[in-house]
Amino acid sequence: MSTTAADAKMNAFVSSLLAKMTLDEKLGQLNLLTSDMDVTGPSIRASYKQDILAGRCGNIFNAYTPQYTRQLQELAMQTRLKIPLLFGFDVIHGHKTIFPIPLGEACTWDMALLEKSAHVAAAEAAADGLHWTYSPMVDIARDPRWGRVAEGVGEDTWYGVQVAKAKVKGYQGTQLGANNAVLACVKHFALYGAVEAGRDYNTVDMSRRQMYQFYLPPYKAAVDAGVASVMTSFNEVDGIPATANKWLMTDLLRKEWGFKGFVVTDYTAINEMINHGVGANTYDVGNLALNAGVDMDMQGSVYISEGKKLLDDKKITIAQINTAVARVLEAKYKLGLFDDPFKFSDSARAAKEILNAENRAASRDIAKRSIVLLKNEQQVLPLKKSGTIAVVGPLANDQRDMIGTWSAAGDWHKAVSILDGVKAQAGNATVLYAKGCNILGDSVLIKKLNAFGGNIELDPRTPQQLIDEAIATASKADVVVVALGETCGMSGEAASRSDLDIPENQRPLLEAMLKTGKPVVLLLSNGHPLTLTWEDAHVPAILETWFLGTEAGNAIADVLFGDYNPAGKLTMSFPRVVGQIPVYYNHKNTGRPFNEANKYSSKYLDVANDPLYPFGYGLSYTTFTYSNLQLDATKLAPGKTLGVTVTVTNSGSYDGEEVAQLYLRDLVGSVTRPVKELKGFQKVMLRKGESKTLHFNITPEDLKFYDKDMKWTSEPGDFTVFVGGNSRDVSSADFTLLEK
Ligand code: BGC
Repeated sequence: MSTTAADAKMNAFVSSLLAKMTLDEKLGQLNLLTSDMDVTGPSIRASYKQDILAGRCGNIFNAYTPQYTRQLQELAMQTRLKIPLLFGFDVIHGHKTIFPIPLGEACTWDMALLEKSAHVAAAEAAADGLHWTYSPMVDIARDPRWGRVAEGVGEDTWYGVQVAKAKVKGYQGTQLGANNAVLACVKHFALYGAVEAGRDYNTVDMSRRQMYQFYLPPYKAAVDAGVASVMTSFNEVDGIPATANKWLMTDLLRKEWGFKGFVVTDYTAINEMINHGVGANTYDVGNLALNAGVDMDMQGSVYISEGKKLLDDKKITIAQINTAVARVLEAKYKLGLFDDPFKFSDSARAAKEILNAENRAASRDIAKRSIVLLKNEQQVLPLKKSGTIAVVGPLANDQRDMIGTWSAAGDWHKAVSILDGVKAQAGNATVLYAKGCNILGDSVLIKKLNAFGGNIELDPRTPQQLIDEAIATASKADVVVVALGETCGMSGEAASRSDLDIPENQRPLLEAMLKTGKPVVLLLSNGHPLTLTWEDAHVPAILETWFLGTEAGNAIADVLFGDYNPAGKLTMSFPRVVGQIPVYYNHKNTGRPFNEANKYSSKYLDVANDPLYPFGYGLSYTTFTYSNLQLDATKLAPGKTLGVTVTVTNSGSYDGEEVAQLYLRDLVGSVTRPVKELKGFQKVMLRKGESKTLHFNITPEDLKFYDKDMKWTSEPGDFTVFVGGNSRDVSSADFTLLEK
């Protein structure tokens, strides 16, 4: 059947169903409620049963497993119209097989792999009764204090666009309706990553130009890729909460971008608009949300409580309700739920497809590629598989933290600790272990984290006893691997930090290990970019391992022993100190760019302007040199493509992969332009001694921006092309875009 014929069939089905529905049944389709989850698994709460049976709830989240979703779906099948429930869940970086946190996974610079992890997650979720994931999160963020940077892909717009496309494709597959595809939900629309001071749920305020140029493109890319749903954000956009923002939800999303799916609020986001101060009660805020074009209410039950009254008072029309309901029904139709409401609730399939060896292998592969080598002096790494290795630190023998934030259905008992990974791959080496210190020493913070689901267990020994044991262990070893960083509850939602150092109680352990005189490798597990100025100055080797998921320990061992040569590159700058934030590579030049010789230039008195580790940065066990950057023309006619070539040589002594990055600068514009913008990259494998010439094409689209009239266009004039292994260390060449 052609798309138009299929659409016509769907439209006819949905219209005829709508014609049969009462107002209550319609409002029920706009209502999304959470199920109760407890440690032994989800359980039915009486009120849901009644709501579902009464047709007051058409959608459930936080319910999974084939058995449980089947039970709930059976209730829906007892309703008058038998409209199937839609089951949503936060499948953020894997369902049961957990992949690296998104900020870590982004460091692979491998879109095929990012698509694959989404595909595996979708297949597992679908086998576990789910229809809909609340992912991808594509909020561009320049403030590493924000806890939710862990869920996104960092600071770059162009890169965010590539990831948004890959993720939607990975989750939704080629066609919804396949039993291994789920509805994706791009979030949080919009601008959530720009919360003031990096504090979660805080105010956002930015110019239209900034939105269009830097923050909106990844959401739009998801829409262009056919994302089935959009989630509103908690923050305000231009003074109006996103969930009440008609400009955002209707003018931009529907009219300008042509979005056809449905919009769901974030968790109780309608109700929270009372706190925002744009309505006095649920009636007011329900009115705002419905009129803004928000289709489904997550957990607020406002449409259920106020919908009828709003209609009676003529604040909204039945046509508006019908449009919203139709969008929800269409999603259910596309999944094939009207043909078989139980098609995703298949226990035999779940047993076979969830957390199987193949999925774990995919997770390990992506995890090892997410690791970023930040420093490697004196070739401390890779480690030899002989002699004695001391593995110390609070994150060394830790499974819980390895799966990171938002690993909702992930079972940390299935995760591989760093210690176990190292032991399994150590060959002839002897591996010793000591904890060295607790993960945190700050009792107030521990209490806070444990109160909200953390399970930080403290070793009762004193800090000195723990360190002494670690020193004794290290003294028997040839090399010391120190696993430090954050516990997983220190990033993610409602987990912003004002201080990005590794927790201060961990520093004495690191100092003690360095004092032993043994070579030290620092392994970091964390969900924010950290401030590592001290560590960079004192520790010879540093590996950024994020929270790598179920296969964390194995992936880390792959890299430690050089079975895999690390090639990850950061997608978010690591500041030197918190006071530099926001620090990001694609900043503007200002009227007084930094100049050492000029007192009155843009700078700090006490720290450099640039980050410690810039966007795109990451080392390898080998070295790469760039040479012979050439443009195939220095004058470019409008509408033409410019060829760029550069030779990359593996000049070190290991085979390895390099991510060659291409940046552009538009030197003169009708509005100010960033000093650099990523416009392309290539990941290449080079044997030691091997050289390859890489070809990039700069297309007319790459030169465009929002001009002084907010038109997406390019302007004639001079441009610089930069190519290199990160955003700081680049070679450059110039060209001119001609008038005609
Ligand atoms: C988060 C969303 C999430 C939702 C449902 C909210 O608190 O902001 O990202 O999808 O909860 O769990």
